[in-house]
Amino acid sequence: MHEFILPKEILQRMRDFRGSRQARDIPDYSLSEYWQYETDNMSIDILPDRVITSGSLGYYVPPGKWDLFVKIRKLLKNPKWYLPIAQKKLFQKFAQLMGAEEFMATMSTSAAYDAVMNHCDVSDPDLSPFRINFLDLKKNLGVASNVRELAEQYTQKTGLNLSDHLIVTYYQFNIISGLIDWNEIKTVLEIGPGNGNLASIIYSNHQKNFIVVDLPNTLCLSMAFLSNLFPDVKITMPHEAKTPLSENKGFTFLTPDQIHLIPDDFIDLSINTSSFQEMKKEQIEEYFELIERTSRNGGYFYTRNRAEKIPGGPEISSEISNEPVIRFSEFPWDPKNRVLAYEICRLGRLVQRDNMFIKMEQIIK
Ligand SMILES: C[S@@+](CC[C@H](N)C(=O)[O-])C[C@H]1O[C@@H](n2cnc3c(N)ncnc32)[C@H](O)[C@@H]1O
Repeated sequence: MHEFILPKEILQRMRDFRGSRQARDIPDYSLSEYWQYETDNMSIDILPDRVITSGSLGYYVPPGKWDLFVKIRKLLKNPKWYLPIAQKKLFQKFAQLMGAEEFMATMSTSAAYDAVMNHCDVSDPDLSPFRINFLDLKKNLGVASNVRELAEQYTQKTGLNLSDHLIVTYYQFNIISGLIDWNEIKTVLEIGPGNGNLASIIYSNHQKNFIVVDLPNTLCLSMAFLSNLFPDVKITMPHEAKTPLSENKGFTFLTPDQIHLIPDDFIDLSINTSSFQEMKKEQIEEYFELIERTSRNGGYFYTRNRAEKIPGGPEISSEISNEPVIRFSEFPWDPKNRVLAYEICRLGRLVQRDNMFIKMEQIIK
């Protein structure tokens, strides 16, 4: 459960959005079995002075000062779900103290970040034109070479604490920053940003205009999180978006049904992370067409998604799911585009058993 204290005016606009046509009308193919379940289990309460959200997506919201107590409460309330996670973390801490973490099947996210950024053997640091060079990447301004530095930077900028999810998100921000010149970027499109961690990291370093496309319920979470973090930034909610978007200052939030509002050749950088992997093929194809149409010539597309995943519901291990398997290699890539990076995520392979691919393309028109 997460609470965001927000101005009355924003809360009223969020209520208006929730009651609007835009919050209800999304294409059938926008909800995979997985997201149908997640959407049904997400709750958003807009109170007179705050928004309270609950559901699994909220796990990614950065922890505040009292979150250790919240974690202990969660563990006591639902030990079956949280005990294995707590056990793994304790075991990792112990292995870390013994200097043995690199021999484990999976490492903690913080140790993995340090290993990859510092070219340690366990990260398999091949020097090759086909690999991201983390030694070079570390030299870029604003790129933290270890988690301690990262935690300091993040808390100083946002007042929040660093989480595992944010470490992975920073890692991706480092990669994007190594491949583009932020001065060339005016408008960023992020599809499926969850609570908005990557958008928040980009915005706190580079104040770009953002267009966010997501499911209506999740948008309430990112709207609440981002307006709470950046109270002075202009936000446009889906029911307020005009045709066509001409000058999109600050954050503009759109639903999957509104993507036609984004003009051609308008976007400098498009992003999708851990999200196409959970969609239906029809939806993925529509978003690939969107990226091709709305990117300017020479714009960029960054993505990190599972090598393969079936976006089924929670019962998938006991009941057959009808969702087809989603494979990164089978996304409708445009062969015209220039590939700037394409590799199995170095950090991902140290922290989880399922491989993630990272790809950055330059859009050629
Ligand atoms: C697992 S979360 C990933 C969040 C974040 N990008 C990250 O890397 O952690 C998947 C995201 O995809 C969004 N999503 C799912 N189906 C979608 C659709 N059809 N269109 C847009 N976003 C969608 C979800 O609402 C959520 O924000």
